[in-house]
Amino acid sequence: MSLSMTRFNTQVALKDDVRESIVNQLNVVLATATDLTSQIKQAHWNIKGPEFVARHELFDKLADRTRAMVDDIAERASTLGGYAEGTVRMAAEKSVLEPYDANAVTGRRHIELLVNRFGAYSALLRSSITQLDGKDVVTEDLYTEALRQAELDLWFLESHVNGQR
Ligand SMILES: [Fe+2]
Repeated sequence: MSLSMTRFNTQVALKDDVRESIVNQLNVVLATATDLTSQIKQAHWNIKGPEFVARHELFDKLADRTRAMVDDIAERASTLGGYAEGTVRMAAEKSVLEPYDANAVTGRRHIELLVNRFGAYSALLRSSITQLDGKDVVTEDLYTEALRQAELDLWFLESHVNGQR
C-alpha cells in the first residue's frame, strides 16, 4: 500500500514514527485475527464425525472470541491515527497463517489445523509485544489480552489431541 499507515492527526502522545510502526504491526495482527476467525468458522461449518455437536459448538465460541479481538485491534489502529486494513482481501495479503486445508473432514484433522493456526497467532502476538519494547503500554495491554485468550483457546483445542498421543 503506497499511502502512509498513519494518515490522520491525533493528540495521542506518541511520536509519528512510533505510531506509524505500531499501526503497521496492528494491521498484520488484524489481518491474522480476521483470517483466523474465518478459518475457525470454516471448521465449524465443515466438521464431520463423532462428537460433531460438541466440536461444532466449541469452534463457534472460539470464532466469537477471536472476532471480538478483531474489532479492538482495528479500533486501536484508528485510535493511533492509522488506517485499519480490515477487509477479507486485505487480511488475505497480510495474514501470517497458512491457508486452510479444504480437504479437512474429521474432527481430529480440523483440530490439528486449528492448533497450528492458534499457535501461529499466539506466536505473532508474543513477538509483537517484544517488538513494541514498551513504547506503547496500551497496545501492549491489548496484545496481552488477545494472547491470554488465544493461549486459553489453544489449550481447549490441544486438550482434544494431547491425551491421545
Ligand atoms: Fe453456526
